[in-house]
Amino acid sequence: KDNEIILAIETSCDETAAAVIQGGNQVLSNVIASQIQSHKRFGGVVPEIASRHHTESITGILEEAMTKADVSFSDLDAVAVTEGPGLVGALLVGVNAAKAIAFSHQLPLLPVHHIAGHIQAARLEREWNYPALALVVSGGHTELVILQADGEYEVIGQTRDDAAGEAYDKVARTLGLPYPGGPQVDKLAAEGTPDVKLPIAWLEPDSYDFSFSGLKSAVINTLHNAEQRGEVIPPENVAASFQQSVIEVLTEKTKRAAEQYQVKQVVLAGGVAANQGLRQAMENMFASSSVELTIPPFPFCTDNAAMIGAAAHVQWKKNITADWDLNGVPDLTL
Ligand code: KG4
Ligand code: ZN
Repeated sequence: KDNEIILAIETSCDETAAAVIQGGNQVLSNVIASQIQSHKRFGGVVPEIASRHHTESITGILEEAMTKADVSFSDLDAVAVTEGPGLVGALLVGVNAAKAIAFSHQLPLLPVHHIAGHIQAARLEREWNYPALALVVSGGHTELVILQADGEYEVIGQTRDDAAGEAYDKVARTLGLPYPGGPQVDKLAAEGTPDVKLPIAWLEPDSYDFSFSGLKSAVINTLHNAEQRGEVIPPENVAASFQQSVIEVLTEKTKRAAEQYQVKQVVLAGGVAANQGLRQAMENMFASSSVELTIPPFPFCTDNAAMIGAAAHVQWKKNITADWDLNGVPDLTL
């Protein structure tokens, strides 16, 4: 059956999300409860608070997803859930909810990798054109992934320290902006001139890995040193310079990988795909090439369950199901 209806659940970090997806690309419902307000005063996600909120929200979110999609449990063909990576206590809430529904309604349980979810958000837009390359940039991940066929992921590069979004959030905090600061650094950057000298970590010439902690530290040191000298560097110029460094390394490595692997499609996914500067730079980079650039709509870029349902469709077609002992795996590999 190709037009299967899947209930998908995502609780890997700080969003409690459920969605109903038909045939891998029709979003019948997509519901999210964000916890940002609860974590804001701590300047980041507090794992224990995240788990508690998931526990409080999950039942209501599931009901809402089913109601909005106008389906009943007997209409479902499978239940999908994010298995990992993520915060273990947070993952377990989703995994147990999925198991309970699947077990009680005798439905197959489909385990989904969170990054596969971010990548498969692209299929909510259009069919894959293989070989393809995905750049996944979010608060928790920075990865370059090659896809040769459905569900075959090869990670060719990843961050060795901070994720891109994490670096944005830390720079935002240094500039006195509230969590999550990525969107605000993006806005500020648009008003500034990139005239602050900051490093770019290219790493080994043939490496597709990334490193953002040196850049983040350079921003902190530059601001600190200026303060010591009684100087003020316009924050918009700091933001513009930081953003330029991040975008340059992300786009250059993406372009090099696209050439080396002769890809037909490039996907930009994850929360940082909302970044105006990055979107523009990616569009410019592939505008005059035959490579098709796909950037999923923003609600499917940040953590959501529709993307988990889209990725679950691939598992469904391959008949990859989980047993009742499915666990949340914080460091699950793709
Ligand atoms: O995908 P996501 O919602 O959650 C994770 O899986 O991590 O990504 C959230 C991250 C945060 O770090 C946030 O600051 C960043 O995406 N972000 C941005 C922008 N919008 C969100 N970073 C830079 N520019 C933006 N416009
Ligand atoms: Zn994510």
